[in-house]
Amino acid sequence: MSFKRTLVTSALPYANGPVHIGHLAGVYVPADIYVRYLRLRGEEVLFVGGSDEHGVPVTIRAKKEGITPQDVVDRYHTLIKKSFEEFGISFDVYSRTTSATHHKMASDFFRTLYEKGEFIEKTSEQYYDEEAQQFLADRYITGECPHCHAEGAYGDQCEKCGTSLSPLDLINPKSAISGSKPVLRETKHWYLPLDKHEAWLREWILDEHKEWRPNVYGQCKSWLDLGLQPRAVSRDLDWGIPVPVEGADGKVLYVWFDAPIGYISNTKEVCEAQPEKFGSWETWWKDDTTRLIHFIGKDNIVFHCIVFPAMLKAEGSYILPDNVPSNEFLNLEGDKISTSRNWAVWLNEYLDDFPGKQDVLRYVLTANAPETKDNDFTWKDFQARNNSELVAIYGNFVNRALVLTQKYFDGCVPALGELTDYDRETLHEFADVKARLEQLLDNFKFREAQKEAMNLARIGNKYLADTEPWKLAKTDMERTATILHIGLQIAANLAIAFEPFLPFSSEKLRRMLNLADFSWEQLGRIDLLKTGARLGEVQLLFDKIEDAAIDAQLQKLAESKKQNQLNAWQPAAVKADTTIDEFDKTDIRVGTVLECARVPKADKLLQFKIDDGMGGRTIVSGIAQSYPEPEKLVGMQVCFIANFPPRKLKGVESQGMILSAVDADGKLVLVTPSRAVKNGANVG
Ligand code: MF3
Ligand code: ZN
Repeated sequence: MSFKRTLVTSALPYANGPVHIGHLAGVYVPADIYVRYLRLRGEEVLFVGGSDEHGVPVTIRAKKEGITPQDVVDRYHTLIKKSFEEFGISFDVYSRTTSATHHKMASDFFRTLYEKGEFIEKTSEQYYDEEAQQFLADRYITGECPHCHAEGAYGDQCEKCGTSLSPLDLINPKSAISGSKPVLRETKHWYLPLDKHEAWLREWILDEHKEWRPNVYGQCKSWLDLGLQPRAVSRDLDWGIPVPVEGADGKVLYVWFDAPIGYISNTKEVCEAQPEKFGSWETWWKDDTTRLIHFIGKDNIVFHCIVFPAMLKAEGSYILPDNVPSNEFLNLEGDKISTSRNWAVWLNEYLDDFPGKQDVLRYVLTANAPETKDNDFTWKDFQARNNSELVAIYGNFVNRALVLTQKYFDGCVPALGELTDYDRETLHEFADVKARLEQLLDNFKFREAQKEAMNLARIGNKYLADTEPWKLAKTDMERTATILHIGLQIAANLAIAFEPFLPFSSEKLRRMLNLADFSWEQLGRIDLLKTGARLGEVQLLFDKIEDAAIDAQLQKLAESKKQNQLNAWQPAAVKADTTIDEFDKTDIRVGTVLECARVPKADKLLQFKIDDGMGGRTIVSGIAQSYPEPEKLVGMQVCFIANFPPRKLKGVESQGMILSAVDADGKLVLVTPSRAVKNGANVG
């Protein structure tokens, strides 16, 4: 290998909301696994993160809540940073794009490109809000979608039909700030002429990086095949880094221009804070013995594989990324994760509900990592993987080995005696675990790698189950000692193999085994624990997750779904005109419910006995699912149609129809007069 150090970046999350499992699965857990692995191997590595604090979404959130953009990013930067810490995402630096270091870095970067003549300037017409006296970002303009004609489509996308739009496509555009009709006004912006970079980008990606993941390579190829266009790198906005040239009043750097430079700024920050540890920031960014790896989600591919490399190349003194392992998306219970629809598992809420179970989530997210295609997170799978893998295999094995050692050998590592063929076979099975894990981790195949680590636990579990040392202890202490010695060595190997994936559990296991610091080099060896060494205190590595905890999560999601339905509800279109004469033909009356019960063998039907003031009648109504306790309806006044001809429903003759309203969730709600009236009274 020709590189000397690895710089790992993970996408800077927007500081306009908390982070959820999609973020963790897509970017931060894989990045963390990778850097932990490199550190265990003793490689020189720097792991950079931070919050992306500029851009329109932040200003929209601020406006909605009546606070400043700075308030918004202060709140979420703190929350996001805390979530990452709690989940053991081991950043060397987690900073933010509102820092002074970053403002200067991004500003200087822009000016360098400007002075080198790497931009083109173009004037175009954009929507302007005359009342608010400002240009409108795409998201600030709403109107009718030209495709599906839904109201409230945004200037960049119609959320109803999913089409991407440009603000000029909208029918009857409206400013989301003042509500007024925006006008077109000329404005000047700076563009990065990506078309000029196309040739070298093609060669660099398509010829020289065929090893990139197929989803990444494929997306780049389709962008390149479509032909690259100049991209504006400035915006008319009052939140962001001012464009540092003359005649740019009221203009800021486009958020996608400044954010990736955040990787550089944050590197500079940590290097200046800890120079003895990390050296000069320029070594990490400008020395071609540094390998740069970007961990991102799939919506970021074009920016990291095409736009940012073009910026770095245009500047001239920077290295380019070596790999961009991007994941696809993680869905939740079959639906796309969505912040606005509250369809997510928020990391802060997860920890409230499952305190101390960081590793369980890390494990499940890696086991289902969307490495090659979109994948689904379900709570049932979460429970199953915890109970039947972490608890039943890894935890069970470790617990048996330790408890038996406590019981028969006073908590000290027993001596290794003569090996049987079966012992040798078992040791042979895990001898090459190190090579296999390296092969997978070096190629960013985290999902497979974790499986491999779990396989080691399976080997251990099977070994104890087959050799049954708890039985042997009654007759053959020497043999028992050998078995437990091997068991404990496997447990020590597990602590190492799982460290990148489940750091909290590895630390716990390390203490239980009383191991000093370990390194990757020791993996696969069976001399990690010395005979006679005393073990630490035994604890459970994992514990079972009960149905009730899972049901509570499913309930929470069901509430979100219901709330979304209610929010999205719209009244049906009004029917074609009718006349008073037509209406008058329908005889609607009020009556009191005398009896009400389910119709046997019909799960939707209720049978009513109604006092209609005219001798009483029976009506069968299909509302059983909205009223699970029909007896409670007795005494209530309802409205019914009195002049429908009788008809039989499930063998019961029904004389009319009871009126109800349909709520947004499909539930039927009986219509009742606002004060008691005589039974038989007309409605009209
Ligand atoms: N904030 C962006 C997102 O969440 C990612 C920015 S990555 C960076 O999609 F490179 F620009 F920092
Ligand atoms: Zn539409």
